[in-house]
Amino acid sequence: MEATTASATTAADWAARSLKSVWHPCTQMQQHETVPLIPVSHGRGAWLYDHDGKRYLDAISSWWVNLFGHANGRINAELKDQLDKLEHAMLAGFTHEPVIRLSEQLSNMTGNVLGHAFYASDGASAVEIALKMSFHAWRNAGLTAKQEFVCVQGSYHGETIGALAVTDVALFKDAYGPLLRAARVVASPDQRNALQGETAQDAARRAAADIEALFAERAGHIAAIIVEPLVQCATGMAMHDPLYLTLVRELCDRYQVHMIADEIAVGCGRTGTFFACEQAAIWPDFLCLSKGISGGYLPLSLVLTRDDIYQAFYSHDVTRGFLHSHSYTGNPLACRAALATLAIFRDDDVLNANRLRAARLSAALGPLAADERVRNYRQRGMIWAFDAIEPDPARAAAFSRRFFTAALDNELLLRPIGNTVYLMPPYILSDDETDLLAARTRKVFDQVMAA
Ligand SMILES: Cc1ncc(COP(=O)(O)O)c(C=O)c1O
Repeated sequence: MEATTASATTAADWAARSLKSVWHPCTQMQQHETVPLIPVSHGRGAWLYDHDGKRYLDAISSWWVNLFGHANGRINAELKDQLDKLEHAMLAGFTHEPVIRLSEQLSNMTGNVLGHAFYASDGASAVEIALKMSFHAWRNAGLTAKQEFVCVQGSYHGETIGALAVTDVALFKDAYGPLLRAARVVASPDQRNALQGETAQDAARRAAADIEALFAERAGHIAAIIVEPLVQCATGMAMHDPLYLTLVRELCDRYQVHMIADEIAVGCGRTGTFFACEQAAIWPDFLCLSKGISGGYLPLSLVLTRDDIYQAFYSHDVTRGFLHSHSYTGNPLACRAALATLAIFRDDDVLNANRLRAARLSAALGPLAADERVRNYRQRGMIWAFDAIEPDPARAAAFSRRFFTAALDNELLLRPIGNTVYLMPPYILSDDETDLLAARTRKVFDQVMAA
């Protein structure tokens, strides 16, 4: 009894201290007057534990980064070994084994099509790099008019000024509008936009036609189009048919526009293949990776690109080079975590194991998919989503917060996007955890819809 009281005090104290000193990301801080802040004490497998000893199943992989559980023994062991060898060295003029091995392995995984890896730390930085590289490659080729970027309706590519300029989520973007260089926005391929009698492929074709119209008119001024292959996650898990990517690739080839695939959220097996682009049998000109690549351990991002892009910068002239850097570019610890992550993919045949895991979770979510209060139930790989039908605008506005709080009461970490509930669990759920996740999600949904 005494111990419980003491630890509860401690949890409340950590929360109070955090709210005083830490400005939390993507948060209207005032909402914490009513929404709880959870001080995490430790993590193990799919679970996070707070200072009261309460546990939460991390059903969104801590913002889509954690692939193989918290405190993963294999990744921990690799990092401990690396820590005693080299924690960091600058990557200009120096190099090291983890960054070399990682670059080689990723190149091999693209059939050596994307054979040059440029490193940064967060996803948004990788997007900035891809945008700058695209513009600069055209400039080095003498095509200086190619200065514009195209993004897709509902796109999300990060919060830095350049990445936000190619983002199309009003909530994140509008306040900074005056700071941003306008991008051209093309129609969404979202399969939910399919008209009566249309297939997802028809919706993809219509969206691609919108790109073609723009390219036909302005390709001479367009450097690149940036897409989130197969699933636009941040806008609310909008899924599209792989055909869309095939069509974008064809249009980029035909009109001489670079294709940037932002696989920051959808890479690393999330959609069922290691790279989402594999499902369309295409490679982009630039592929951005982050989040899961380090297993969710350390900030690491990178841009993979083709040899012709690399050669466009290769010169005796320094200013034709890509003079971009971040202090922690290619950090050895982060690269070692990534190598451990890739080793787990190989050793545990993770993509095939995930097919079985996904089938079990899909079956367990069957009743929710059929629920009449649910619209657009959808799944790709290890992503599940559905839209709650909530006609009352006031209730709809509060849906996400109410669901998050009810989920915590039921030992789940789930954060709906608007009225879209989604699951993006780590790739290590046991059968029992899978069943628990489905049953509790249903229970929370019932509670929130009934309240
Ligand atoms: C598709 C996509 N691109 C870029 C980013 C930005 O990554 P970061 O938050 O690491 O800067 C995100 C983050 O959610 C993302 O989902």
